[in-house]
Amino acid sequence: MDNHILEIKNLDRVFRIGGMIFGNKIKAVDDVSIKMPSDRAWIMSVVGESGSGKTTLARMILGLLETSAGEITIDGKSIHYHMKHKKEFYRLVQPIFQNPFTAFSAKQTVESYLFETALNLGMAKDKEEAAALITETLKRVGLNYDQVKNKYPNQFSGGELQRISIARALITKPKIIVADEPVAMIDASLRMNIVNIFRFLKEEAGVSFVYITHDLSTAYYVSDYIATMYKGSMIEFGKAQDVLEKPGHPYTQLLLDSIPKVGDKWTAKDRMHMADAEKKVLSKIGCKFARRCPYATDQCYQNTPEMVTLEGEHRSLCMKHKEYKAG
Ligand SMILES: Nc1ncnc2c1ncn2[C@@H]1O[C@H](COP(=O)(O)OP(=O)(O)OP(=O)(O)O)[C@@H](O)[C@H]1O
Ligand SMILES: [Mg+2]
Repeated sequence: MDNHILEIKNLDRVFRIGGMIFGNKIKAVDDVSIKMPSDRAWIMSVVGESGSGKTTLARMILGLLETSAGEITIDGKSIHYHMKHKKEFYRLVQPIFQNPFTAFSAKQTVESYLFETALNLGMAKDKEEAAALITETLKRVGLNYDQVKNKYPNQFSGGELQRISIARALITKPKIIVADEPVAMIDASLRMNIVNIFRFLKEEAGVSFVYITHDLSTAYYVSDYIATMYKGSMIEFGKAQDVLEKPGHPYTQLLLDSIPKVGDKWTAKDRMHMADAEKKVLSKIGCKFARRCPYATDQCYQNTPEMVTLEGEHRSLCMKHKEYKAG
């Protein structure tokens, strides 16, 4: 039996933009491979700037978007199999989205969502059993059923509603939760609260998380694994400690350097630097990051980098390691 709960192999997603004749193609996800263990729960953060392909990757894992090439295997079965057995799939994998206010309709009580999930996915046989399951699940995210009962989404804060989204996802007792920017719309002071719930659920309920985030400080704090995306490519992957202590890719280094430290100010200069580089046209050959890379050599423009294993599971899509190894 496969000992990987999530296995992604050479995954691509191409989008066509513009018309069929004069249009262009972009590879939003480009040859991404990841293997995540099934013998323990984990939190894998997927980090990278806007447009790097994080949401596209998440949507493919959730079966919400078709793949262009490559494979996704979850709990030993392909995503194509899962899409034919959706009820089973939603018990295994659940989403949490960025904006909890759009995840719930303003016209429906939030508890009605919880009941629907419990009853439609066969987690409870009747309303009474569903109510018991909902009470227990809400407790896991620090809420009482009484706080939620008969209330509509606009009666909650963003943080509370996101906790209810987590509870809803938990009702199916999933093995994996894919959370796409779950703290982005939440007050900075409450972000840790949400990621602490992830951590608690990993430890207490054995749920693994694909945690997509711009917020490196929470990723830094909560991750077991970190995957860095850059223009569709996964340019680094590894155990969080390895990636954070010895980043194998200059882009990861740049991201880590940009984590605001206490007392630092986020200056307009930093912002300009990122936006400016973003506009540059990239050729198909060579490293996608070369133009922004302080270490780029001629070979970075002339050759396409391959994934290099640094140590254990730590991998980087950077030529400096190849050169180092060859030399
Ligand atoms: N439906 C679509 N049609 C065309 N292009 C798309 C589509 N969805 C995404 N893209 C493009 O694919 C690339 C990756 O987008 P994606 O939303 O996955 O990035 P992201 O890393 O999630 O960004 P953000 O941090 O802003 O959420 C972008 O260039 C985006 O414009
Ligand atoms: Mg996104």
